[in-house]
Amino acid sequence: MENSDMLARARFLVKDVTSLPTIPAVVTRTLELLSRSEVELDEIVDLVLTDQVLAARVIRMVNSPLYRPALEIHSVKHALIYLGLSKIRELVLSCTLIGLFKKQDGPINIRTFWEHSFGVGIVARVIAEMAHYPHSEKAYLSGIVHDIGKVFLNHYMKEDFQKVLELIQKEPQKLIDAEARLIGTTHCHIGICIASTWNFPEDYCEAILSHHTPEEAVLNPLLTAIVNLADLFCSVRGLGFGSGEWVSFELAKEEGWRILEKFSPDKLSFDAEKFCFELDDKIPEIRNLVKSIY
Ligand SMILES: [Fe+2]
Ligand SMILES: [Fe+2]
Repeated sequence: MENSDMLARARFLVKDVTSLPTIPAVVTRTLELLSRSEVELDEIVDLVLTDQVLAARVIRMVNSPLYRPALEIHSVKHALIYLGLSKIRELVLSCTLIGLFKKQDGPINIRTFWEHSFGVGIVARVIAEMAHYPHSEKAYLSGIVHDIGKVFLNHYMKEDFQKVLELIQKEPQKLIDAEARLIGTTHCHIGICIASTWNFPEDYCEAILSHHTPEEAVLNPLLTAIVNLADLFCSVRGLGFGSGEWVSFELAKEEGWRILEKFSPDKLSFDAEKFCFELDDKIPEIRNLVKSIY
């Protein structure tokens, strides 16, 4: 099936849902403020405080092992000072996303879904650092949102998605192939439609669209490859989303690895085997982190 047909179908499906959650104005405004060169911390604190649910989640998350404060943090201001501006963005956005899709009302377990998403985010950040990609925060956030299209299928197309999940159990195949067969589009195409509705930056959108086909990325192939490898890694190391998706993985033969070798700023200093080994070392810790976030 042609990419353009699948994109058109995804657009149609997403447009049809009038109840699609929107990113709350306070978050858009916070991200906007953070992108300015000069911003007062108090401005951000005031803004976050206008949304009590968000404020509570920020405090809960900053106290999780992911950010490891030495002493418990009780105020939004203290949380933001502790984190520093660059991490506020990732915290605010990830708190919001979890809040938007928290309800369990579809065939996939939403908790397992977020564990997978955070796992991919954290592994993507680790890979970004190993590959000396300078925007590890971008890798983390793209990792968290990469499968957002699945949440859409889970919420708004329950029956069709259930059939897709049954098909991959019966006949082992890639999830995107089963989605294309039964729904006429994939969670990647749906994901990019949602991300553009939310005005996500273009390279995040591309990473969402091409995380299973990194060779198709043109804007920021490195970012897409990092998310692709993080996703594969999590799926084969027990941080998948629990649908029994068929995954094969041999790092040295992955398209994502080839891109990483080609585009990483000062070339990778180790081979695929060592890379896997180092990453594997971190998996138990990442698994614990992920369990503590949600
Ligand atoms: Fe995916
Ligand atoms: Fe994934």
